[in-house]
Amino acid sequence: MSRVPIAGVGMTKFGKNGERTSREMFAEAAGKAFEDAGLAPDDVDEVFYGNFMGEIAEQQGHSGPLAADSAGVTAPSTRIESACASSGAAVRHGVNRIRNGDVDVILVGGAERMTNISTAEGTAGLAAAADALWEIKSGVTFPGAYSLMANRYFHEHGGSREDLAEIAVKNHDNAVENELAQFQMEIDVDDVLGAPTVCSPFGLYDCSPMSDGGSAALLVSEDFADDHGLGPDVAIVGTGQDGDRLALHDRVSMTRTPAAERAAQMAYDDAGIGPDDVDVAEVHDCFTIAEVLAIEALGFYEPGEGIKAATNGETAIDGDLPINLSGGLKAKGHPVGATGGAQISELTKLLRGDHVNSEAVSDADIGLTHNAGGTVASCVVNVLEVMS
Ligand code: COA
Repeated sequence: MSRVPIAGVGMTKFGKNGERTSREMFAEAAGKAFEDAGLAPDDVDEVFYGNFMGEIAEQQGHSGPLAADSAGVTAPSTRIESACASSGAAVRHGVNRIRNGDVDVILVGGAERMTNISTAEGTAGLAAAADALWEIKSGVTFPGAYSLMANRYFHEHGGSREDLAEIAVKNHDNAVENELAQFQMEIDVDDVLGAPTVCSPFGLYDCSPMSDGGSAALLVSEDFADDHGLGPDVAIVGTGQDGDRLALHDRVSMTRTPAAERAAQMAYDDAGIGPDDVDVAEVHDCFTIAEVLAIEALGFYEPGEGIKAATNGETAIDGDLPINLSGGLKAKGHPVGATGGAQISELTKLLRGDHVNSEAVSDADIGLTHNAGGTVASCVVNVLEVMS
């Protein structure tokens, strides 16, 4: 299928952003993307905006037009909600619209404000991405659900808390120089193992944090890029999305994520590549076990074998397949509606050479983003390639 050039990207710093609203953060991210692309709000034909818990945290629905307006855009706009995969899905919608030949310039991305409410309120708000009748009523939260998956993984395949800790250590290491990341501090395995328990086997450092932030990207048609001399360096060349039964207890397996497996296959087929062709990836490590499940679902590892990848250094910055060079959700932060767009922003910069960790992947041609909703009841995979 045709390439969709990424003309510009931008994101805010992720973290505790005080009084800043989602609209302000999206406006900043979009402004950076316009500057990066050399385009203006008037150039935009349509906006897809990812946001999950606006009604809960900001009493704000109907946020598509609000986000567009904040970016100075009056074109048609739609909020895309797919829990933590909201802005990954927004990116995919944009790719499809451009490929259909419907439009030439799309603004995609998302924003989320989470730290203006308490952790308890945020946890309850996030739990709305689970099955309200069965999971929420029995007390399931997302740390709880993923801890069930981790314990089941240990039971089926082995592995240990130390192996999960190595994932957190790696992702914190990757974020140290990333000024947009929430946590720019190194941690070690002892820090992870000694941290307060959130939900066994997870401690504090096995979890992504509550975060505020915004992300944006400008996608254009190849014709538009040529006509306007944009010369973007990176394009989206493959996209895939799939779903699964919402509730964890309805799944065949608690240690496989078939929505991600199928989304990946769709994206690989679309791009005409396989997992072995991927040089670098940003995956949805909302909890340490989630990175393991992601790299297995993406076909980088066989089921049961991803648990040792970080321990063996294979996914480290100098490993064979660097994973989450941005710091991932764990250290870069996870403002849920902004995360998929931030993965695109960070990976684009990594591939075109203007990210603080770009040197580690200077030979890379192909990168992949994996953005999951809930306990991977929805998943979007996008494949990016350096344009020759
Ligand atoms: N990793 C590292 N440090 C963290 C952190 C995390 N995930 N979460 C909070 N911290 C730090 C804070 O920066 C703060 O440090 P400081 O005292 O130096 O400022 C300290 O820990 C306490 O922060 P606080 O916000 O009070 O933590 P908390 O105990 O209320 O919440 C979690 C911690 C892990 C429970 C919370 O971040 C959480 O629920 N995360 C999961 C979010 C989630 O489910 N997302 C959706 C995924 S599907």
